[in-house]
Amino acid sequence: MERVLRNFFLFLSKNRFFTKLAKKYGLRFGAGKFVAGETIPDAVKTIKELNEKGMAVTIDHLGEFIDSESEAREAAEGCIKAIEAIAEHQLDSQLSLKLTSMGLDISEALVLENMRRILDVAEDKDVFVTIDMEDFERCEKTLEIFKKLREEYEHIGTVLQSYLYRTVDDIEELNRYNPNLRLVKGAYKESPKVAFPDKKDVDNNLKKIIKIHLQNGNYTAVASHDDKMIEYTKQLVEHHGISKDLFEFQMLYGIRVERQEELVEEGYKMRVYVPYGNDWYGYFMRRLAERPANVAFVLKGIFGK
Ligand code: FDA
Repeated sequence: MERVLRNFFLFLSKNRFFTKLAKKYGLRFGAGKFVAGETIPDAVKTIKELNEKGMAVTIDHLGEFIDSESEAREAAEGCIKAIEAIAEHQLDSQLSLKLTSMGLDISEALVLENMRRILDVAEDKDVFVTIDMEDFERCEKTLEIFKKLREEYEHIGTVLQSYLYRTVDDIEELNRYNPNLRLVKGAYKESPKVAFPDKKDVDNNLKKIIKIHLQNGNYTAVASHDDKMIEYTKQLVEHHGISKDLFEFQMLYGIRVERQEELVEEGYKMRVYVPYGNDWYGYFMRRLAERPANVAFVLKGIFGK
C-alpha cells in the first residue's frame, strides 16, 4: 500500500497543470508545515529563528518545470534577491536551487547565463550555492553544468543520490573538483534500470558514498532523517578521526525537528533546508511520497482542524 501511495504522489508531483494551479492559489493543504512561506520576508523570519537555535540553513527559492525563458530569468532574479537578503540580514544561510528552474529544459546556454548571474552575486556576498539533483533524465546534464561552473566558481556544490547505480562512479569522477557535496537517498520515481529498487541497497549505497567522499577529504553534507545514516556517520568520523569541520548533517524544514535540535546539542553542524515561494506543489508532493503518514496534514488542510 505504501509503495502505491508513494508512486501516486510522485506521479502527482510531475503534473504541470497542478503545479501552475498551486502557484495561483497559494500555500494550501498543510504545505505550510514543510514550506516557510511565499515571500523573502517569510523566509528571513524562519531563517532567523533557526539560526537562533544554532542551526545553519540552506534556503530554497522553490521552482521547477519552468518552460519559458522569462520564467527562468525571473527565477534567477528570485535567487539573487534571496542571496541579497541573506547578506543584508547577516543570516547563516546558503542557497539551493534546481536547474530546471533556471531553464535546463530550454537550453544549456540559458542555464549557464542565469547561473553565472547568481554565482557572481553569491561569490561577492560570500553565499554558497548548491545545485539540487532532480530526476535521472537530468542527472548527466546537471553534473556537466556543475563541472563547468565549478571550474569558474568556488561557492558551488551539488547533490548525489544513492539510489542511482551510477553514483559511485560519479563521486569518484567528481573527486578531482574537491566538491562540497550533499549526499541523499533520492526523491524521484526512477526505473530499476537506473536505480536500486530495494531500499536496503539504497541505504547501503548511501553509507558507501558517505565513506568514499569523506575519505577523499571532501566536505560532505549527510542529508537524511534516517537515524541509521546519522549513527553510521558519527561512528565513521570518530573511527577515522575526521574533523567536524569536514561534514555536516542536513534535514528538511519541518521534518524531525527534535532530532535536529539534539544534533546541535551534541555539537554537530546541522543545516536545515528551508523552501519558500509560490511554486510549492512538486516539493510538497515528494514529501508526501516519502511518508504517506503526512497525508494526515493534507486532510487537516482540506477539512479543517
Ligand atoms: P528515509 O526516507 O528512509 O526516512 C527515514 C526516517 O525519516 C523515516 O522513517 C521518518 O521517520 C523520517 N522521514 C523521512 N521523510 C520524512 C517526511 N517526508 N516526513 C516525515 N518524516 C520523514 N532528494 C533529491 O533527489 N535531490 C535533492 O537535491 C535532495 N535534496 C535534499 C536536501 C536535504 C537537506 C534533505 C534532507 C533531503 C534532500 N532530498 C533530495 C530528499 C532525499 O533524497 C530523500 O528523499 C529524503 O531525505 C528522505 O530520505 P531519508 O534519507 O530522510 O530517509
